[in-house]
Amino acid sequence: MGLLRTLLLGRENGIRSKLLGMTLGSPSDTSPDSAYSAPTYSAPAAPAPALGAGTPASVEPPRDVTPPEGFEVVLHVDALESGQVAEVIAGGTAICVGNVDGEYFAIANTCPHGDGPLGEGKLSGHLVTCPYHGWAFDMKTGECQTNPSTSVETFAVELKDSAVCVRL
Ligand code: FES
Repeated sequence: MGLLRTLLLGRENGIRSKLLGMTLGSPSDTSPDSAYSAPTYSAPAAPAPALGAGTPASVEPPRDVTPPEGFEVVLHVDALESGQVAEVIAGGTAICVGNVDGEYFAIANTCPHGDGPLGEGKLSGHLVTCPYHGWAFDMKTGECQTNPSTSVETFAVELKDSAVCVRL
């Protein structure tokens, strides 16, 4: 077999073997420059952190609480400290929820003056101040202190276990 191979293909380092290797490539050539080298493999990028990463799980709205009839779970009771407000979406409606000395209240999030987001305002006592132009609204009644001819809708709030629940 060795003699037959040598007659057909030439000597191992002969001109015919080199010409054949140049035209067909050498299957034994696995150098990085070879056309036969294996494709490079790039490790996939690390997965992006999940939304809310870094937020303690305890402030996520609890999923294991069944709200009272007609109510919807919107926040964990520890999500807001006293004197804080937040904007939440419940049933497709933006709501401003506030913690007034440990008691929760909910009003419509949209300021009637110019659509300011009340949930991004500042809470002082039971008055939330719109971040746009400063109109103040009573979290308990929805009445506007700045312009008494207007008000915002209020929503009933109940606490159940660790959940703040709002009736829409
Ligand atoms: S939009 Fe709220 S005070 Fe103007």
